[in-house]
Amino acid sequence: MKLTAEEKKILNGEEGETKAKIMRTLVEFGELFGAKRLVKVTHDGHLVTSFGIGLLKPVFRTMDEIIKAGLKTEYPFTVDPRPIDYKNVKCGLLDKLIFSKIMYSKQKLYEEQLKKIGLRDEKSFTCTNYLPEVGNTPKYGDVLSWAESSAVVFANSVLGARCNRNSGMIDIFGAIIGKVPEFGLLTDEGRKASFVIEIKTSKLPEAQILGSAIGLKVMEAVPYIKGLDKFLGKKLNDDVIAYLKDMGAASASNGAVGLYHVENLTPEAKKLKKDLILENAQTYVIDDAELERVYKSYPVMWKNKEAKPSLCFIGCPHLTYSQLISWTNKLSNALVEAGRKKVKIRTIMTTSPNVEEKFKQADEYKKLMKMGVKISNICPLMYTNNPIAGGKPIITNSNKLRTYSKSRYFKDDEIVKIIAGGNA
Ligand code: F3S
Repeated sequence: MKLTAEEKKILNGEEGETKAKIMRTLVEFGELFGAKRLVKVTHDGHLVTSFGIGLLKPVFRTMDEIIKAGLKTEYPFTVDPRPIDYKNVKCGLLDKLIFSKIMYSKQKLYEEQLKKIGLRDEKSFTCTNYLPEVGNTPKYGDVLSWAESSAVVFANSVLGARCNRNSGMIDIFGAIIGKVPEFGLLTDEGRKASFVIEIKTSKLPEAQILGSAIGLKVMEAVPYIKGLDKFLGKKLNDDVIAYLKDMGAASASNGAVGLYHVENLTPEAKKLKKDLILENAQTYVIDDAELERVYKSYPVMWKNKEAKPSLCFIGCPHLTYSQLISWTNKLSNALVEAGRKKVKIRTIMTTSPNVEEKFKQADEYKKLMKMGVKISNICPLMYTNNPIAGGKPIITNSNKLRTYSKSRYFKDDEIVKIIAGGNA
């Protein structure tokens, strides 16, 4: 990799040993992927590691070293959601003890460390940091040092920013040095599509299943999606943004998609059109039958496959404001149909602190509370993906949560009936 004089100075330790180690890590990471140079990060950071799991000792040690060296990120950063919220996601005394004393025993310490190196504020814990209410929203062409896969795919695809699918700690290192190695999705060539996805369904596909189908087929390749604008239109309004958020998160977790283009809709597809498609790109046709095949392929991981669900999580990635409103109305109708006033299955809807604050001003907030639903700002995966909660029959409409935990996935229309106590 070709480094500037200033970068070489940092690498040679002229700005301290810790900064040199961070620089060396970034350079070696870049060289592994064939990067020729480092490029400037132009927007706020977002970190993927939000949890103080006791076992992550090297992370806490590294953070300590960064703090002792007096280093901070160049811009403030937001971070993924916390793993626990005893107020809204209640658990038994024993579970609480294990969570706080064993699993997430370093949560407090880690959050203190985050504050010292540049955490934006107390409300910064969400994976939908890019939503306007949260305000960590990159603009077209911004270069980022993020790692959260659902946020990376959104920023690349819907906002036209540039970020690779980095790992935890690499996101911090890039944010501290203020530079990232240039390769992959940071380059024009790396943003071209080697797959054309042709949507030939009879109606708008379930976002979570469409994303899953795409991810499972293309893995880390860039897909160019045709035929979705027929259902979504050509404008990025609130509903479309929510749809693309969920579709992208499913593609990033069921596969490893870091960028997709939607014809006539996402910014690069609008600008560069078919020039974004590589010669010899493969074609994948998605029709109703293909979506159903993918849906039916999900295994049920519960010990007792017929168990009655004990908990439902909606909001992975965190819900947008318009999603909270529409879930409230959908659930209210389902309860009327089921002849009930409150949900039958304990249900937690997760969203960012900022979106929750806005939602609290809406009439729908009281309506949702009356139905017995709780709102939390946690990451359902962090809560679920452990031996304590992992053994419980949890249901979700998130394909990411299904993939990384034993939670069982249901489509939106099915899950709303289940939690309302009607027949799915
Ligand atoms: Fe967000 Fe956690 Fe899901 S970080 S995307 S709520 S796994």
